[in-house]
Amino acid sequence: MSDRGSAKAPATSAAAAPARPKKPRIPAVLLKLVMALTGAVLVLYLVVHMIGNLQIFWGQTAINDYAVWLRTLLEPVLGWEGFVWVVRIALTVSVIGHIWAATLLALRAKRARPVKYAAGNKVKGNYTTRTMRWGGVIVLLFVIYHILDLTTGTLNPNGEHLAVYENVTADFAPERWYVTLFYVISLVAIWLHLRHGLWSAIQTLGWNSNRREKTLKAIATVFTTVLIVGFLIVPISVTFGWI
Ligand code: HEM
Repeated sequence: MSDRGSAKAPATSAAAAPARPKKPRIPAVLLKLVMALTGAVLVLYLVVHMIGNLQIFWGQTAINDYAVWLRTLLEPVLGWEGFVWVVRIALTVSVIGHIWAATLLALRAKRARPVKYAAGNKVKGNYTTRTMRWGGVIVLLFVIYHILDLTTGTLNPNGEHLAVYENVTADFAPERWYVTLFYVISLVAIWLHLRHGLWSAIQTLGWNSNRREKTLKAIATVFTTVLIVGFLIVPISVTFGWI
C-alpha cells in the first residue's frame, strides 16, 4: 500500500506544477504584418476598382470598353483575361491570408484571457473587436454576392458577360431599390472595417506617434470616406436616374 502511495507521488507533483503557456509558433507581429500587407493588396484593388467604376459616368461605351481593355492587358504574354486571372489569384491569396492571420490572432487573444472582463470594463476593446470580426464576415458575404451579381451574372437581372453598363443599370434600377440598399449597408460595413484596419496597419508598421496620432487617424478616415463615396455614387446614381 505504501508502495502504491509513493509510486503516485511524482504524478501528483507533476499535475500540481503550474501549466507553462505554450510558446506561439508564429510571432504575433508577423501575423499583424501579414494582415497589413494582405490588407494593402485588397485596398489597392479597391482604389483601382472604384476609379474604374466611375467610367460609367462617361457612358456605356466607356465602361464596357474598359472591361474589355482589362482583359487584353498583358495579352501577348498571358492570353485573353490572363491579367484578370492574376489579379483574381492575388486577391484570393490575400483574402485567405488576411482571414487566416485574423483568426489566429483572435484565438490567441481569447486564450490569453480565460477570465471574462468584469462588467463595465469591456466596452471599448470588445466593441472594436466585434465590429472588426462581424464587419469582416459581412464584407466577405457581400463580395460573394457581388461576384455572383456582377462578375458571373448569376444573380443579375441582365447578367450578360462584358455588358457592364447594362448589368449595373439593370441591377440598381429604381424598382430594385432593396439591392441598392443592400450595397449601401455593405459599403458602410466596409467603411468601418477599412478605417479601423488602416489605423491598425499604421500602428503595426510603426508609423504612428503621439504627435501624429490625430493627423494619421484623420487621414485614414478621409481616405476611407473618399473610397466608399466613390463606390456608393454608382448604385445611388442609377437608382435615382442620374445615369
Ligand atoms: C458599389 C459599387 C460597386 C460596383 C458598381 C461594382 C461593380 C463591379 C463590376 C461591374 C464587376 C465586374 C467587372 C468585370 O467583369 O469586368 C465587379 C467585379 C468585382 N468587384 Fe465590384 N463593384 C462595386 C463595389 C465593390 C466592392 C466594395 C468590392 C470589394 C469589397 C468589390 C469587389 C469586386 C470583386 C472581387 C470583383 C470580381 C473581379 C473579377 O473576378 O473579375 N466591388 N464589380
